[in-house]
Amino acid sequence: MARCRMASHVFVTRPLPAPGIGLLSDSGFEVRSNPEDRPLSREELLAGVREADALVCMLSDRIDRELLDSAPMLKVVANYAVGYDNIDVGAARERGIVVTNTPGVLTEATADLAWALLLAAARNLGAGERMVRAGEWTGWGPMQLLGEPLQGRTLGIVGMGAIGQAVARRGKGFGMEIVYFNRNRVAPEIESSLGAEFVSFEELLRRSDFLSLHAPLNEHSRHLFNQQTFQLMKPTAVLVNTARGALIDEVELVEALQQGRLAAAGLDVYEFEPKITEGLLSLDNVVLAPHLGSASTLARGDMVRLCCENVSAVLAGKPALTPVPV
Ligand code: DGY
Repeated sequence: MARCRMASHVFVTRPLPAPGIGLLSDSGFEVRSNPEDRPLSREELLAGVREADALVCMLSDRIDRELLDSAPMLKVVANYAVGYDNIDVGAARERGIVVTNTPGVLTEATADLAWALLLAAARNLGAGERMVRAGEWTGWGPMQLLGEPLQGRTLGIVGMGAIGQAVARRGKGFGMEIVYFNRNRVAPEIESSLGAEFVSFEELLRRSDFLSLHAPLNEHSRHLFNQQTFQLMKPTAVLVNTARGALIDEVELVEALQQGRLAAAGLDVYEFEPKITEGLLSLDNVVLAPHLGSASTLARGDMVRLCCENVSAVLAGKPALTPVPV
């Protein structure tokens, strides 16, 4: 006999920070969740969505046709991230499933982290910290770990959405010249408030002293940074990536850094995350963070709220607050 379902089921793939998924049970949903702070295996994920009306998933969960087919009741996939390259959005649409993400609420946190990496890479903070911790620092030295200044230098931004703009705003405060490349030119008032100049991708590569990536990962942007593009960049350039790892061909990045074709890199995201491409770990001119872009208490809490609001809206038959763009 079929079981009578009193409440919609929501499946959450990982424990979430405060205010937590209690928000969903308080709204009357039956919530099932992974109690352990680790990504679910594929089998666990497939089993978890089987009876779910809504799914709250992480960027590390692959939401593809197979998964959507094993979730016949599913109406909404709420990604706990702004990037949604982990989801086959086309397949979800074909099945009438709404996909949502978390734009806006993590903009400032991610821009701050991009700047933390940029400054750390520019001023050799990683190498310096390793030296101090290893007990190898013998005192101040006039030649020690000389870095690059920011004032008057050119900051290039790839992807001038909300996060790219927040990074540019900070760059203005550091007295930098801002150039950007984006699929579409942004509104003139945004350009003038940021003092940002729209340039071709090639010009961006040639002019930037610091280059920060904020583009989504898709079939056009995968390996946008590769051997050819590194050749067009200044050998003194610093590359920062807080977007998605696969925007960069990491093997070719390692070669470029080893051969001095790029000065330094600051990375928060990785092509084969959480695996780190061989060679990166032994380079002293690379600062490595473990995908911390949105990891502030404020941003992560707001991401929880937004996911829950999206789930509640769709399950109530209303439009989602932040559906992913068509
Ligand atoms: C995102 O939201 O896409 C970030 O990568 C998560 O921190």
